[in-house]
Amino acid sequence: MIFTRSSISEKETDFYCATNQIFETLLEEIKFHAFSRGYLTRQDSELLIKYYSSWTRASNVPYTGYCFTQRLKNLARFISECDNTVPSVLDCGCGMGSESIACTLLGAKVVGVDLSKKRIGIAKKRLGYYKDRHGIRLDVNFLCKEVLKYRPKVKFDIVYAKEFISHVWSLPAFFKFARDVLKERGYLIITDANLFNPFIAFKAYLDHRTALFTVVDDPETSEKVLYARERLFSPRYIAKVFVQHGFKPTSTSILGYSPCVSRRFLSFARKLEGLASKVPIGAAYEISGVKIA
Ligand SMILES: C[S@@+](CC[C@H](N)C(=O)[O-])C[C@H]1O[C@@H](n2cnc3c(N)ncnc32)[C@H](O)[C@@H]1O
Repeated sequence: MIFTRSSISEKETDFYCATNQIFETLLEEIKFHAFSRGYLTRQDSELLIKYYSSWTRASNVPYTGYCFTQRLKNLARFISECDNTVPSVLDCGCGMGSESIACTLLGAKVVGVDLSKKRIGIAKKRLGYYKDRHGIRLDVNFLCKEVLKYRPKVKFDIVYAKEFISHVWSLPAFFKFARDVLKERGYLIITDANLFNPFIAFKAYLDHRTALFTVVDDPETSEKVLYARERLFSPRYIAKVFVQHGFKPTSTSILGYSPCVSRRFLSFARKLEGLASKVPIGAAYEISGVKIA
């Protein structure tokens, strides 16, 4: 199902439903590439399926769908409420492009930027699927570059960063960049893994035993770019950084549970999530804020 901005605003409060249907659309597409070489090479599709392995396992689908929709519903709301006819979104560290594709399905025009040639290559090839299967040319431009060096000609309505600030160097440089590329009253949305989730913190600890940072090549200049390994923050800290950089936080949510929960335990896990809402240990957080003068 492809959404238009009007079909979303008709539903008004039902952004959760809209993003959930987009999740289903993306899932159908990802599963399609597992069996078809129509758009992606075998190597590409293996990478895509591996990255989204938790999505494609049937017993996980309700959980991953729940997390995906929770993390995207504010973005859907901002796109729908934006004054511009077609709001513009910058997806920082867009990876293989799922959230960029989701934004265009929600009616925005998107620039998705990532350092990885491989991932951007896959993201570009995925667009062909939507053109052929759904008859739409998605309004998204994927760029392979170090996002902090990106100097757009026109400012954006929304800057989106999912699972990105745990890698980018440095955090203040990213906030400054986001401020520079956003219009006045534009929104910054950050969603990432939560430092206070014990399982996630332990996984990061294991990762950090070998190194806190690695380096990758800038795809344009071949200069070395620092790449943090699972550098986790607490939502409270990130909310403070929003304020320090001239953003007024508009919402904070803590969501999901980790490790991943199978269908059988989902209702129990949701009850626990409700009970534990006072203790911010959910797997991920999402903070949005508006740029103020
Ligand atoms: C964990 S992935 C997240 C991808 C996608 N946003 C998602 O949620 O699936 C982080 C991505 O950020 C990209 N990245 C990290 N630092 C970057 C930088 N300075 N400029 C552009 N992309 C960067 C990486 O190449 C990687 O694809």
